[in-house]
Amino acid sequence: MKAKAIQILNDNWKDGYTIPSQNLYPYQWKWDAGFIAIGLAHFNMERAEKEIKTLLNAQWENGFIPHIVFHQLSETYFPGPNFHKADLHPLSNKKYSSTGMTQPPVIGFVLEKIYHIAENKSAALEFVKDCIDQVFKAHQYFYNYRDPKKEGLVYIYHNWESGTDNSPIWDCIFEIMDSPVLNIERKDTSIVDPSERPSKREYDHYLHLINCAKDHHYDDAKIAENSPFLVQDPLFNSILIKSNKALINLYELIGGNEAKINQLQQWQEKSISSFNSKLYDAELGAYVHYDLRNEKPIRLVSSSSFSPLFAGIPSKDQANALVTTMVEKFGGDGLYLCASFDPTNEKFNPKKYWRGPVWINLNWMLIDGLLEYDFKELAQRIKADSIEIIEKVGFYEYFDVRKKFYTASSKGYGAANFSWSAALYLDLINN
Ligand code: SER
Repeated sequence: MKAKAIQILNDNWKDGYTIPSQNLYPYQWKWDAGFIAIGLAHFNMERAEKEIKTLLNAQWENGFIPHIVFHQLSETYFPGPNFHKADLHPLSNKKYSSTGMTQPPVIGFVLEKIYHIAENKSAALEFVKDCIDQVFKAHQYFYNYRDPKKEGLVYIYHNWESGTDNSPIWDCIFEIMDSPVLNIERKDTSIVDPSERPSKREYDHYLHLINCAKDHHYDDAKIAENSPFLVQDPLFNSILIKSNKALINLYELIGGNEAKINQLQQWQEKSISSFNSKLYDAELGAYVHYDLRNEKPIRLVSSSSFSPLFAGIPSKDQANALVTTMVEKFGGDGLYLCASFDPTNEKFNPKKYWRGPVWINLNWMLIDGLLEYDFKELAQRIKADSIEIIEKVGFYEYFDVRKKFYTASSKGYGAANFSWSAALYLDLINN
């Protein structure tokens, strides 16, 4: 299995970056690049560093790091650069074509992780020194431009920025959006089974949101004022907070940099305190998303609800409540952990992308967070489940949570030979 995982990462390597999978995802994705670099670091440190460097080369003048970098044109993906038109933004990267939206800011914690994996610590620290200021600048971008009320919680303006593309969380926003019906030719549904992908109507909303942002030339202040979708996402903000902490640790290792460390600490204090007062739902025993456009919490539980464990955000009591909710709602006898959406909710769908299936990157973050809070048994269960499903069906993009679903002929969902499943498998196995 380890050899197969390495083979997938070698096959998906494109001379400078790794595609998430053949055909379905033919470019470099931001959060994929981070998780992939962790796997690469276990067998090819040079390539892990190159993956990160290539992504950072696409950074904009304002610090923004885009969600997809279109390194070369591909016929197999829609919407491509001609739809996104990120160059409408005056500070967009002139050399690298990209989207005008971002994705969870994983690179901070990925740098720290790579440093820990590295055998040659001084070489790894040189690499970190080389790119850490770019990552700091990316965090500065979030706090300067994505936090209009200065709460320490940043917004996303598109569900694709969350990474959890078609989670039922967004349904209540889309219901009131009234997006035009578009006549578009999707590519994804001819590559994988459409029943495992978002619906046509959902794509109307996704593209409409991009068109709204384009109308404002991707100007953050105008998007904050006008975008029909504006959400404070617990997963996105947890990852930012985890990466803030990683940057503090790394700057301390490097030495000096007091002003940056102070700034990061100030962000941390405010972010963690607002996170707990605004996004924690004591009745649900879970963190929830906040709809900033319509000024209301979205009171649904998903795997993102538990991600604050990964960033050390919950108190011990809150962590106990999260674990109870996870075990009660997501941890039934016949279920693998951890479904991406509440299996007890009527909107749960075990095969549709982010509406139920298990995703290895979320499991990987939850394992790390649970260990930090000393929930060893539950962490071990999620780790064993992750390894078991991969070993049963292969390195798919996402997986059914129902144990009874697995027979000798069953498969995973979405793309086969998916890079981050291979990369994070290597990390889980090597730990
Ligand atoms: N995951 C999205 C897609 O399916 C884009 O980030 O294309």
